[in-house]
Amino acid sequence: MNDDLDRIMEVMEAAFDPAWGEAWTRRQVADSLALPNTHYILVDREGRAPQGDSKTSGFVLSRSAPGEEELLLIAVEPESRTLGLGRKLVEMFKTDAKVRGAERVFLEMRCNNPAQALYRSSGFETIGKRRNYYRLSDGSRLDAITFGMSI
Ligand SMILES: CC(C)(COP(=O)(O)OP(=O)(O)OC[C@H]1O[C@@H](n2cnc3c(N)ncnc32)[C@H](O)[C@@H]1OP(=O)(O)O)[C@@H](O)C(=O)NCCC(=O)NCCS
Repeated sequence: MNDDLDRIMEVMEAAFDPAWGEAWTRRQVADSLALPNTHYILVDREGRAPQGDSKTSGFVLSRSAPGEEELLLIAVEPESRTLGLGRKLVEMFKTDAKVRGAERVFLEMRCNNPAQALYRSSGFETIGKRRNYYRLSDGSRLDAITFGMSI
C-alpha cells in the first residue's frame, strides 16, 4: 500500500497547479486510504495497472457509500495528458463503483476547472453549486459545482 501511496503522490505533485490548492497532502491521502470505503485506480501511460518499477501516469481516488460513490480526485501527469487517460480513469471509476453497488456517482470541482469538459462528455450533469466554496491562496473565492450521473 505504501508503494501505491508513493505512486499517487508522484502524480499528485506533478499534476495539480498549486494556485488552486486542490492537491492533497501525503497525510490526507494516507488517512483516506486507511478507510475501507476509499478506493483508487492507478494507470501507466498505456492505461494499464503499473507493474514493478513502471511509472504511474494517472490515478483516480473515490469514496463509496450505500448506493453511491464520489470521485474525490482524478489526475494525469502533464506529459501524459490528452492521450485519453483521464477519460479511461473516469470510465474505470464508474465500472468499479457499479460493481461495488453504486447507482449514482458524483463529484465536486471548482467552477473554472477545464476538467468539466471531460466530466460532461462522460455523462455527468450539473446538480448543484456551492457559492464561494473554495478559498484560493490569494484569498479569493470560487464556487464549487457538483456533478452527478446515474450509472
Ligand atoms: C483533468 C485531467 C485528469 C484530464 O486528463 P487527460 O488524460 O488529459 O484527459 P483525456 O485525454 O482523457 O481528455 C478527455 C477529454 O477532456 C478534455 N480535456 C481534458 N483536460 C482538459 C483541459 N485541461 N482543458 C480542456 N479540455 C480538457 C479533452 O479535450 C478530452 O476531450 P476529447 O476526448 O473529446 O478530446 C488532467 O488534465 C489533470 O490531471 N488535470 C489536473 C488535475 C485536475 O484538475 N483534476 C480534476 C479535479 S480533481
